[in-house]
Amino acid sequence: MDESLQAVSDDRPLVVIARVLLDSGLALLSERCEVRSGGLHATRAQILSLVRGAAAIVSDASVSVDAELLASCGPQLQIVANFAVGYDNVDLGACAGAGVLVTNTPGVLSSATAELAVALTLAAARGIFDAAADLRAGRWRHWDPSAYAGPQVAGSVLGVVGMGRIGTEYARMMKGLAVRQILYASRSAKPEVERELQASQVELAELMSAADIVSLHTPATAETHQLIDAQMLSLMKPSAILINTSRGSVLDELALAAALSEGRIWGAGLDVFEREPSVPDELLSAPRAVLLPHIGSATARARNEMAVLVARNVLSVLDGGEALTPVC
Ligand code: DGY
Repeated sequence: MDESLQAVSDDRPLVVIARVLLDSGLALLSERCEVRSGGLHATRAQILSLVRGAAAIVSDASVSVDAELLASCGPQLQIVANFAVGYDNVDLGACAGAGVLVTNTPGVLSSATAELAVALTLAAARGIFDAAADLRAGRWRHWDPSAYAGPQVAGSVLGVVGMGRIGTEYARMMKGLAVRQILYASRSAKPEVERELQASQVELAELMSAADIVSLHTPATAETHQLIDAQMLSLMKPSAILINTSRGSVLDELALAAALSEGRIWGAGLDVFEREPSVPDELLSAPRAVLLPHIGSATARARNEMAVLVARNVLSVLDGGEALTPVC
C-alpha cells in the first residue's frame, strides 16, 4: 500500500460507491482502498447506512449529496467524486461547510455527449423514429412526397445555449453538417470558439427567435432553472427544433409539451428530464418528441474514462494530493 495512504488511516480507507462504478474505476480503487457499493437499485436509506465511516463517496447524477448524507458519513469524509460532469445533485455549500472536496468528470465525455446531441438533432429534424415506427407497424403503403418533410440541418441557423466543452464540441460537429450560421448564448464570450467556428454571441432571446435548431448545454444552477420557459419557447420559429442533453431542470417541460402539441415548434429531442426516471405524460404524448433515457455519455470509452477519472480523483485526495478535476 502507498505510504501516504496509510497515513490517512491505519486500515485501508473506505470508499463507498453510492450505486455503481465501472470495473475500470473499481479496479484502481480496490488496489488501495476498501470499496463498498450500494448497487444499481440502492435506496436512499441503504446509501445513508452504507456511507458510515467513508473517507470518499462516489456519487452519480441520481444520488442526492446533501447535509444529511454528509452527516451520515462522519467527519473523516474527504471527497465526493461525482461520476458525471454535471453536479447539480451535490449541495456544494454543505460540502464546503463540511470541508469536503467535490470532483466531477469534465472533458472525457464531451465527444460522447455532443454526438448524442447531434443524433437527437437529426432524429428530431428528420422524424426518424416516427418514420421507422410507421414502417415496422405496416403503415408504409406508398411513397408520399409530403410525409415526414421536416427541417433540413444543412443550411440552418444553429443556436447553442451554453458554449462550454460539450456545447463547443457539438457546434464543431454541427459545423461539419454544414449549418449556415452558429449563434451562441453564454455567460462569457468565447473568442477562440468565435474564431474557429465563426460563431457569434447573442442574447438568449435573439438566439431563440433566430435559430432553426436550439441546443441546450448549460449546467443546471439556480440561475438556469427553467431558463427555457414558455416565454422563451414562444420566440421560436414554428419550423424550429429544441434539443436538450444538459439537465431537465433548465427547461419548462410542460411548456415544451404544449408548444409541440399546438404546433408552435416543429420538434424536440430530449435526453434529460427534471424528475428522472419519471417523464411527464404530456411529453410522452407530444408529437415529434424524441425522448431518450439520459444516455448522453453512454459510449464505452467515455464511461470508462469517467470511471477512471473518478478513481484517480479519489486516490489523489486520499493520498494527500490535489483533486484532478475539482468543482470546489
Ligand atoms: C453527466 O456527466 O453530467 C451526464 O449527464 C451523466 O449524468
